[in-house]
Amino acid sequence: MACPMDNGTDDTNQIGSCLTKGPGLLYSEYLLLDKVLSAQRLLSSEYDKEVHDEHLFIVTHQAYELWFKQIIFELDSVRALFSNEEKLHEKYAQARILNENNLHSSEAIDESRTLEILKRLNRIVLILKLLVDQVSILETMTPLDFMAFRDYLCPASGFQSLQFRLLENKLGVKQAHRVKYSQSYKRVFGRDPNAVEAIRRSEEEPSLSHLVQFWLARTPGLATNDFDFWGKYRRAVEAMLNEQRQHIHEEEEEEFRKQLLNNLAARQAVFDSIFNVAAHNALVSRGERRFSHAALQGAIMITLYRDEPRFSQPHQILTALMDIDSLITKWRYNHVLMVQRMIGSQQLGTGGSSGYLYLKTTLSDRYKVFVDLFNLSTFLIPRQLIPPLTKRMKSKLSIVWDYSDFEEDVVSSVETSSVNATTSSSSTEQKNRKDNYHSDERSCYGIINNSNTDLSVNNGSNN
Ligand code: HEM
Repeated sequence: MACPMDNGTDDTNQIGSCLTKGPGLLYSEYLLLDKVLSAQRLLSSEYDKEVHDEHLFIVTHQAYELWFKQIIFELDSVRALFSNEEKLHEKYAQARILNENNLHSSEAIDESRTLEILKRLNRIVLILKLLVDQVSILETMTPLDFMAFRDYLCPASGFQSLQFRLLENKLGVKQAHRVKYSQSYKRVFGRDPNAVEAIRRSEEEPSLSHLVQFWLARTPGLATNDFDFWGKYRRAVEAMLNEQRQHIHEEEEEEFRKQLLNNLAARQAVFDSIFNVAAHNALVSRGERRFSHAALQGAIMITLYRDEPRFSQPHQILTALMDIDSLITKWRYNHVLMVQRMIGSQQLGTGGSSGYLYLKTTLSDRYKVFVDLFNLSTFLIPRQLIPPLTKRMKSKLSIVWDYSDFEEDVVSSVETSSVNATTSSSSTEQKNRKDNYHSDERSCYGIINNSNTDLSVNNGSNN
């Protein structure tokens, strides 16, 4: 039988259209378009007062929900990738205890996974950009048109978007940081046990922020018995502040000198807040900082040495995380502006909040999960003061190795060791391996150590 799609022309390139005869699904069947495209129920029509723009209002919200779904899908996979790292890290720790001779490294991360994480985070960033822009399409609806159907919606509100809350929780928005009204956001899901369960899980599972912090805390070079980045960085900061103090003392005009000294004292206090763990933790408990102290160190180190090949992807990950925070904030801002345009600043929302006034309060840093990354710039030091890398550190951050073999070895060694803890691996191959990996308890990146000499680039004395 002739293909029903054949339009009788001689264009043989079009023959592919006959593939519709195959056993698979048709486009609309595959996408369940009958369901998706019949899900636009205009309440204004049901009340026999059809408002043209309600169609746009519904489609816009549905499009948002679909994209939220995709973001959550990506986010869950990124969390799983980070989480595997965490488990693997524990396995290394276990392996080290069980078989000291065999394993001398806990510092591996599969860099193909880092690339996958980066790819998916960047996808989330692009989706969020779209969502920020999408607000302007809905703004083509006039407030008068909105008014014509708004009353039919009550009490429906975006406040009841389950996926939006899941998204926030999975990123790491903490209940304690929410503004008062949305602290009780869970009550709107009270009648839906599945929603309540999903919310509970999203609050209890490790959030992206938690996993990122764990990963940052293992940045190679932080350990004091290794490169000791923190000690070196602290000395560099002190040198910088002392130099500035000296310059200020050369200033002749007293008033100006006092002003400069005050500024310097303020700067010193900010740096003290990261060098003094108790001061840092106090800021964390007040919600002004979110990252653990070790994670903050890792983030600063990656930022300062981002030109080193092994830090390039981690640095891009940190940038993507900031982009996510920044785009969600922009979405909040665009949404608030739209709300003010549609209902003004004095009307209550259909969800029962103070409307514009409530939403305005959500624009603060409270909702920025990665606020510490934004604030990293406070702690940058001029390039010439950045502690030079030792040869060993340079080599760690330069060279890529094939992680998969190593992972197999580590896992099988954990298993072997568990069965027979006394059987330590003594094959030449394993001995070579041991010699080729550096020990660094806290680091998280795979390395090839092609240099057993450990000379400082700078003066030969650093490790
Ligand atoms: C005419 C357009 C819109 C108006 C007038 C509007 C109005 C409001 C208002 C007043 C609130 C505060 C809660 C309440 O009392 O209802 C709110 C919250 C919210 N809306 Fe909209 N909205 C609009 C469009 C959208 C769209 C397109 C989305 C996309 C999904 C959305 C998602 C949300 C979310 C997630 C919240 C909760 C925000 C939070 O608690 O931080 N809204 N909206």
